[in-house]
Amino acid sequence: MAQLDFAGQVAIVTGGGRNLGRGYSLELARRGAAVVVDDIDGEAAASVAGEIERAGGKAVASAESVATAEGGAAIVAKAVEEFGTVDILVNNAGNLRAGEFAGLTLDDFEAVLAVHLGGAFCVTQPAWAVMRERGRGRIVMSGSAAGVYPEGGYSDYATAKAGIVGLTRALAAEGRAHGIHVNAILPQAGGSSMTADAAPIHSLEDARFRGPDAALAPYKSVEAVSPLVMYLCSPECSHTGLILSAGAGWFGRVFLGLTYGWTAPEPGVPPTAEEVARHFDRIVDPAEYLVPGGASDELQHIAARLGLATTEERRAG
Ligand SMILES: NC(=O)c1ccc[n+]([C@@H]2O[C@H](COP(=O)([O-])OP(=O)(O)OC[C@H]3O[C@@H](n4cnc5c(N)ncnc54)[C@H](O)[C@@H]3O)[C@@H](O)[C@H]2O)c1
Repeated sequence: MAQLDFAGQVAIVTGGGRNLGRGYSLELARRGAAVVVDDIDGEAAASVAGEIERAGGKAVASAESVATAEGGAAIVAKAVEEFGTVDILVNNAGNLRAGEFAGLTLDDFEAVLAVHLGGAFCVTQPAWAVMRERGRGRIVMSGSAAGVYPEGGYSDYATAKAGIVGLTRALAAEGRAHGIHVNAILPQAGGSSMTADAAPIHSLEDARFRGPDAALAPYKSVEAVSPLVMYLCSPECSHTGLILSAGAGWFGRVFLGLTYGWTAPEPGVPPTAEEVARHFDRIVDPAEYLVPGGASDELQHIAARLGLATTEERRAG
């Protein structure tokens, strides 16, 4: 494959002032993109934009919050005013107010949803309008392992990140008709400023977590995650709607599977609760599963389990 090159393309990276966002901004710029580095910490954003310019790249800093519609609109307007368009959006900004659920306030819960999920909405919507108009775009969302298989103690963050999975898949489905590809990554990089003030989480003290976490720590770098983001941002990547995990130089896919399941014996006769209880192990058994691409795949699956021909099959037959 040829070198992934972003010359002539315009990228927005939110939360671009630190850690992962900084790494994505530097690498996109190194590969030729003009980058809007947004971070609510304006000094951090300016420092990364300066670093890019000193290295001969193109960048502009933005200090808007992603958590408001005005902020999102201003970030996208800056890309259009300074560089003419938006080809790439990396929704990366994040905050954390973790703690055990019993002590979590509604204010904490809403503040975390506002930045991760609200932020992804507020920046993506104006960028979407530009991309839709041009019939192309690449959007990378930042999820987290905590949003798909939480360890406990991060319920606000887990909810926001699970929402990112939903938004990614919904926008991927809607973006297909417009050449807009939307994928999410679940990074493992450490070095986060988000966790600095967060309350300690007991489940993360568990040996099953601490052992591998300590073993992987020397390998968990921003540079080990960034190559996946570069690929997902590139026109060469034709995939959309994927949830990809990356850390320490390892890459994989996380997917939602649908079990083969259990079908009530008499078509048209609803089973009793006791029958459902008796067959529950079969219902949840992941030994046989499929990965639905959309709700229609589940409907096809159920129709097949019931031995019913779908309208298409009847037409084809
Ligand atoms: N570092 C990891 O191992 C890890 C693991 C899982 C998920 N993630 C996700 O990756 C993303 C980046 O993580 P990180 O470790 O680099 O975090 P980080 O805290 O180091 O950087 C996040 C940046 O977002 C900025 N930010 C916060 N609120 C903002 C707002 N309202 N508007 C604009 N900018 C705002 C912060 O100022 C900060 O510079 C986050 O979405 C995070 O949830 C990271």
